[in-house]
Amino acid sequence: MRFVDILEKKRDGHELTGEEIEFFIEGYTNGTIPDYQASALLMAIYFQGMTAEEQGHLVMAMVNSGDTIDLSQIEGIKVDKHSTGGVGDTTTLILVPLVAACGVPVAKMSGRGLGHTGGTLDKLEAIEGFQIELSEQAFIDQVNTLKAAVIGQSGNLTPADKKIYALRDVTATVDSIPLIASSIMSKKIAAGADAIVLDVKVGEGAFMKTVEQAEQLAHAMVNIGEAVGRQTMAVISNMSEPLGEAIGNALEIEEAIATLKGEGPEDLTELCYVLGSKMIVAAKKASSFEEARHMLKTVIEDGSALQLFKEMIEAQGGDGSIIDNPKRLPQATYTYEVFAPQDGYIEKIIANDIGVAAMLLGAGRATKEDEIDMAVGLRLHKKIGDVVKKGESLVTIYSNTEEITTTREKIERAIQISATKVEKQPLIFETIGEA
Ligand code: URA
Ligand code: CA
Repeated sequence: MRFVDILEKKRDGHELTGEEIEFFIEGYTNGTIPDYQASALLMAIYFQGMTAEEQGHLVMAMVNSGDTIDLSQIEGIKVDKHSTGGVGDTTTLILVPLVAACGVPVAKMSGRGLGHTGGTLDKLEAIEGFQIELSEQAFIDQVNTLKAAVIGQSGNLTPADKKIYALRDVTATVDSIPLIASSIMSKKIAAGADAIVLDVKVGEGAFMKTVEQAEQLAHAMVNIGEAVGRQTMAVISNMSEPLGEAIGNALEIEEAIATLKGEGPEDLTELCYVLGSKMIVAAKKASSFEEARHMLKTVIEDGSALQLFKEMIEAQGGDGSIIDNPKRLPQATYTYEVFAPQDGYIEKIIANDIGVAAMLLGAGRATKEDEIDMAVGLRLHKKIGDVVKKGESLVTIYSNTEEITTTREKIERAIQISATKVEKQPLIFETIGEA
C-alpha cells in the first residue's frame, strides 16, 4: 500500500477502507508515515469529511494503537460519561456516587484540567489524602465492592490520538467533527466503557459555538458508538454561562456535597438528573428515564448517594469528614465581592472569561507546569435572566492574595446587565438516544 494513493483517494472525496485507515494509524504511530503526509490526510479529511463506517474504522484503529483497560472482572454494564468541557462543570464528581448508589458500576478514569479550570482529578485532590493512583486490580476491586472509583488515566491509552491531536493543533485541523468525534470516542472505548453518555456543551464557553454544530458532533459520536457496538446517548447542554455556582477546586467539592444532599444549584442538579438517568438506562438498571430519575431522587433523599461519596473518598485514602464538615476543605484567606453597578437583568455571564478569572486566582493552570491553589475560586450568585439590584453582590472572589485587580476587572467585563427583561436560557437543547 502506498500512502500517497490513500491521500489522493481522500482528496478526491472517496471512502477509505478499514485496511487503508489502519495502515495510516499504524504507520503514523510507529513513525513510518511522516508528519507531512499525515498532515495532508488530516486536511483532506477536514474538507471531505468521513462516512460513519470510516469513523468506526478510525476509532477502532486508534483504540488498538495502545493499551486498553479490561473491566470484564467488574460485574454489570460499565457506563462512562464524557463532557466536551466547560467552566465550573462539577457533574462528574456528583454523578459517580449518585449513579453508583443506584447500583450502576462506575469505573471512572478522569483527567486533569486542560483549559482554565481544574479537571475532576484536580478537584478530588482538594480532599486531603485522596489517592488518584490505584493499581488496575485495586481499581476493579473497589468498583466491585463500592460500585465507584475515580482514578487518573493509566497505561498507554490511544497513543495514536495523542500524536494526531498534537499534529491537528498545529495544522488547523482540530475543528473537524469526524476527527473530534473519533478522538473522544477512542479514549472512552480504550478505557473499557460498555456504554457511553455524552454531554456535548454548546455556547460561549464551549468548543461548539452553535446548537447545529453540537448536534452534528453528538450524532457523529452516537453513530460511532453504535457502529462499534457500544450503546451511546448524548445530551446537548448550554455552556453560554458557567454551570452551577462554584468555580474552583475545593469550592466545587463543596458544591458536589450540597448537590448530593439535594441542596445544589438548580441547573447543576437538573443536568445531573438528566445525565444520571441516561447512565442508569444505559446500564439497564431501569427501563425508562422516569423510573431512573425516581431512583436518583430516592438516593439523594435517603442520604445514600452522599454516604457513597464519603465511602469512596475514604476507600481512596481521603478525609471523609469533609462530607459532614466541608469547612475542613482548603479555605482561602480573603473573600471579596463584585457588586452590580446598576439595576436590571443579567444578560451575559461569559463563561470563558469567568474561567480565566478563576485561573488568574490560581484555580487552574495557565501552563502545564503551574501548581493549582485548591482553595481559591469564584462563587456566582446570579444566572442569566435574574433580576439584579445596584450594589447587590454578583460574585464572591475567594483569593489567597490581596492583589485581585485583574481578576475583578475580568469578572466585571464578563457580566453584562441589561435594563430590559432578559429571558432565562434553556439548560438542555436536545437529547439523543432513546430508552
Ligand atoms: N477533545 C478531544 O479529546 N479530542 C478532540 O479532538 C477535541 C476535543
Ligand atoms: Ca460548578
